[in-house]
Amino acid sequence: MSTLTGKVALITGAGRHKGLGEAMAKRLAKDGAAVVITDIGVAKGPQFEKQHIGTSDEMNEIVAEIRKAGGKAAAVVCDVLDEKSVEAAVAFTVKEFGRLDIMINNAGIGYLMTDILSLDQKDWDAVLNVNLRGCFFGTKHAAKQMIAQGGGGRIINTASQAAKRGFAGAAAYVSSKHGLVGLTRTSALEFGKHAIRVNAICPNHVTTGLGDWQNKHFSALGGQTHDQYMDAMRSRIPLGREGRASDIAAMAAFLCSDDADYLTGQCLDVSGGEEMH
Ligand SMILES: NC(=O)c1ccc[n+]([C@@H]2O[C@H](COP(=O)([O-])OP(=O)(O)OC[C@H]3O[C@@H](n4cnc5c(N)ncnc54)[C@H](O)[C@@H]3O)[C@@H](O)[C@H]2O)c1
Repeated sequence: MSTLTGKVALITGAGRHKGLGEAMAKRLAKDGAAVVITDIGVAKGPQFEKQHIGTSDEMNEIVAEIRKAGGKAAAVVCDVLDEKSVEAAVAFTVKEFGRLDIMINNAGIGYLMTDILSLDQKDWDAVLNVNLRGCFFGTKHAAKQMIAQGGGGRIINTASQAAKRGFAGAAAYVSSKHGLVGLTRTSALEFGKHAIRVNAICPNHVTTGLGDWQNKHFSALGGQTHDQYMDAMRSRIPLGREGRASDIAAMAAFLCSDDADYLTGQCLDVSGGEEMH
């Protein structure tokens, strides 16, 4: 029997190839959990263009890949900007697989980045509303279900190194991820009595679709070639390489396992030693 056999997980923002959500979903499925892949599904206006988001086609491909590998998976569109949509995704999970044990609030946008003097409210709101308010909706509706069914649960928030320090040119993103640390700690306090463990993962850098956009954006901004930018990044990391999606998935699998039974309210760096607090 695998470590997560019989468990059911819902992951937001998991419908994009190469993404951290996809990697976490595949790892949890490999460890025996039934997983629900959710994502925004369709492009929506200038802030959610097709090049940045997980489409319904990709969501269905990821489900098919998990099933082909012998895992259990289903997909449903969930826009984390909309509380009703998040509530419906939890209800879908329960209808499909009978319960909800693991909620991973992973949906995030990190491509609306500019310095504070040029940042407008529209972009600030979009980033805060996806990266922070969306996690609040996910936490609230997952916890309601976990409390109603009994037996505890796990909530994992995908935060960031940007939850631990400032980054020039990324005020909205940094603020949203710092806020997510506060949400993680407060949720851990409120839900401990229900045996719901709430933790956050703080990756430094993984070249996902989003990570690739950031590499291009920040190298251009700093007047570096892509290779110069990546070399400089690696030189700051004690282990000498950027993260892999599998590194983040391994931490998620650990946090979902019984081995993490005494962990809650933690915001854990998975950064090759670049971040240490
Ligand atoms: N890649 C990195 O280096 C890195 C580092 C630290 C933290 N993170 C965080 O990891 C998470 C996953 O990012 P990723 O790098 O895998 O990028 P990604 O682009 O592959 O994943 C982000 C997903 O969020 C989805 N999303 C955006 N708006 C949404 C909405 N309104 N409703 C539902 N889904 C929505 C996107 O469609 C996309 O599938 C994000 O929260 C990101 O901030 C990433």
